[in-house]
Amino acid sequence: ASGVLVAVAFAACGFAGPGRVSTVGEVDFDTPLPIPPLAESTVDADGTRVFSLEAQSGTTEFVPGAASETWGFDGAYLGPTVVAERGERVRVDVANALDVPTTVHWHGMHLPAEMDGGPHQMVEPGETWAPEWTVDQQAATLWYHPHPHGETEQHVARGLAGLFLVRDDAEAALPLPREYGVDDLPVIVQDAAFTDDGRLEGAAQGFAGRLGDELIVNGALGPYAEVRDELVRLRLLNASTARTYAFGWGDGRPIEFIATDGGLLEASVDLDRIVLSPGERAEVLVRMSPGERVTLRSVMTPEAAGLQPAIGGMNGATDEFDVLELRAADALDPAPALPERLVEMPAVATDIAETRMFRLDGFQINGAAMRMDRIDHASTVDTTERWIVENTSSMPHSFHVHDTQFRVASIDGAPPPPELAGWKDTILARPGTEYALVMRFEDYADPDTPYMYHCHLLWHEDQGMMGQFAVVEPGQRATMTEETSHDH
Ligand code: C2O
Ligand code: CU
Ligand code: CU
Repeated sequence: ASGVLVAVAFAACGFAGPGRVSTVGEVDFDTPLPIPPLAESTVDADGTRVFSLEAQSGTTEFVPGAASETWGFDGAYLGPTVVAERGERVRVDVANALDVPTTVHWHGMHLPAEMDGGPHQMVEPGETWAPEWTVDQQAATLWYHPHPHGETEQHVARGLAGLFLVRDDAEAALPLPREYGVDDLPVIVQDAAFTDDGRLEGAAQGFAGRLGDELIVNGALGPYAEVRDELVRLRLLNASTARTYAFGWGDGRPIEFIATDGGLLEASVDLDRIVLSPGERAEVLVRMSPGERVTLRSVMTPEAAGLQPAIGGMNGATDEFDVLELRAADALDPAPALPERLVEMPAVATDIAETRMFRLDGFQINGAAMRMDRIDHASTVDTTERWIVENTSSMPHSFHVHDTQFRVASIDGAPPPPELAGWKDTILARPGTEYALVMRFEDYADPDTPYMYHCHLLWHEDQGMMGQFAVVEPGQRATMTEETSHDH
């Protein structure tokens, strides 16, 4: 009986599940890694690159012969990878073929609030929503997923998610692997639970949300990827609804970390592990030797989640998952050496126009639950703000801000570690820890339509651990028009 209690406590604290603790080799790695197709596009007469995505329902066999009901974009599970160049005008025709309303949010994208795809831009069944904007940010691994208020966890867990890659000249000038699906591999990681006969089912509910005991990578269980290049780039996305990972290599070689949520770091950093909470991305490089096999694994410890070793009986709870096996060909294409400096990283801005406090506690932010008809604050366009995010709860959260990429100025007053020294839109907020984030809201002012900030543990978001802010012209106030204040 005490074993059961311990398992429940693990699930409740949010970083460990009651499920399998694997060892190397426990996952068979017998499925080729699926690569989401690249989204097709056409270019309009006015130069706009037009994509289309259709949210649809279907069935997926994660286990051969066992069909699960899933949702996806242009398919039964996940969605195509959208690629756009910095400076390009893009439009995405988002059609909803589900029988419930949904939205598509462009996570990490700088764009007008009306195009953001948050809970105010619902797409009704049978309707099409056609946001357009000019991509203007550095090359990065962004993603898209639904954001219907109170329903986001369910929509994402059923499979609605995809990557949105931004390319630019600075990244293109570097000798980095960038052949999509060949030496530049998307790795979309989700945890899930299955019935004994292999059908997807709702994972166990804890305080963090639902934690599954199996990993789905690009929609596959136990995948391997064959590579024929010495240097391989992985774009890791934690698309899980609640689980945080600490990715590393099974043989102990360092993780060569090159990019955060918002783009390249100034220089690559060698890490034992890279911790990614829900919503975060990382680009990493791995150097392969001919014929070798190397396993990407997650080993998440209580310390990595910021938990005191003895809180609530969770002492020693570490969960481990095999993620992906890379198999190198016997002859590999050589890789050119990388320059020491990848991109220019400006110093964190100090021209702070406003400092705001965000206290995370009780599935609320600043003691209030999200309301569709309340804009919590207005930020002035083209000014710099400092957001102090303090997690006063006893559990980890994941703090995400729409529209912008921020810099971490300090964590409990100290400079951030190198892996948090780049552009971020989502950050693991450890319990009892204070983060100073510096950000600018540029270009787009709209007093009527808010952007969101929220916990990216999606069940927390759905519970109302979210707030709304508008970006306004100097002196302007945020308003709520009838059109944007209806609750769904
Ligand atoms: Cu990835 Cu507001 O979300
Ligand atoms: Cu977002
Ligand atoms: Cu949370």
